Amino acid sequence: MKLFVTGGAGYIGSHCVLRLLQEGHEVVIFDNFSEGSRETVRTLSELKFPGRLADVVQGDLLHPEDLQRALSDDSFDAVFHFAALTRVKESVQHPELYYCHNVVGTLNLLEAMRSFDVKRLVFSSTASVYGEPQYTPIDEKHPLNPINPYGRSKQMAEMIIQDFDRAYGIRSVCLRYFNVVGASSLGCLGDRRVIVTHLIPSIIHAILGISKAFSVFGTDYPTRDGTCIRDYIPIEDLVDAHIRALTFLSEGNRTEIFNLGTEQGYTVQEVLTVCERVLGKKIPVILESRRSGDPAVLIAASKRANEALNWHSQQLLEEAIRLAYAWEQKKMSMSL
Ligand SMILES: NC(=O)c1ccc[n+]([C@@H]2O[C@H](COP(=O)([O-])OP(=O)(O)OC[C@H]3O[C@@H](n4cnc5c(N)ncnc54)[C@H](O)[C@@H]3O)[C@@H](O)[C@H]2O)c1
Repeated sequence: MKLFVTGGAGYIGSHCVLRLLQEGHEVVIFDNFSEGSRETVRTLSELKFPGRLADVVQGDLLHPEDLQRALSDDSFDAVFHFAALTRVKESVQHPELYYCHNVVGTLNLLEAMRSFDVKRLVFSSTASVYGEPQYTPIDEKHPLNPINPYGRSKQMAEMIIQDFDRAYGIRSVCLRYFNVVGASSLGCLGDRRVIVTHLIPSIIHAILGISKAFSVFGTDYPTRDGTCIRDYIPIEDLVDAHIRALTFLSEGNRTEIFNLGTEQGYTVQEVLTVCERVLGKKIPVILESRRSGDPAVLIAASKRANEALNWHSQQLLEEAIRLAYAWEQKKMSMSL
């Protein structure tokens, strides 16, 4: 198939492109390289897989003419939409950026898809659309009550996507990711972002001495050891769900929303313990007070994706941590 991947030079998008090339698809990446990396794209173009990276378009979702130009060149079977701004804290400080890139950007993409009659979309949504959980594990029927502009921008994008199905028959799968972790088991891709906000990369940075210590935010949550509980989904399993979502749409199924998680929660303290055991390193830790907007527990119920996509997360957290660590070490050696 011929596939259009927005944000394909970023962390999750690039892992998805790799898998699509492995599966023999032809891929066009569309990215403004604000966070995405040229090096990542070069790696993808050098891989010898059955599929082909047909083009890499430097373009912006906020410029409709970029999208029109990129989509007009070919007839695409489907779009994977990863491109977005992704930092919760930044979204609170600069909400306008998040509503522009994530909401208007998605609208521009849908308009371009409509112009060129592209009828299938796989969209990267997030557990942040649920806000403070009313119950866990969180299933897809849980009320949506996002507590920051990032989550609200994704909820709005989901609503627009649903409306484009009703009005124009663009069928979609919205995938609500929980906490994505790890790197490619081939060792060639990982998270290249310079500003690290996620838990496991932050722990690894403390181990490697890139930061002085790892900060644990809040030790008085109503959990088994007082630290927050999250559901960590390995990136290769996450990507596998995207491949299945494409098949799901190609088989003519209707628009759907699926949570993607492991249904298993780890406290921050437990993740630290696993990291110390797996990596054989002592982690310097600073205990800090809670951050606002961090729910105590976020665990996915993924039964719907298990059943409809026949998808299950398989990689152990230990392995995802090992891969993330190997990637960070490689990144460090490359920048020396
Ligand atoms: N990483 C996670 O744990 C996580 C969790 C839930 C949801 N998500 C979602 O997954 C998607 C991918 O996230 P990621 O972690 O790979 O982030 P990322 O920053 O690595 O990737 C996003 C990519 O989009 C590009 N981009 C941003 N704005 C753009 C625009 N206006 N036009 C064109 N390109 C643009 C960036 O250059 C980057 O390459 C996002 O939609 C994010 O909201 C990620």
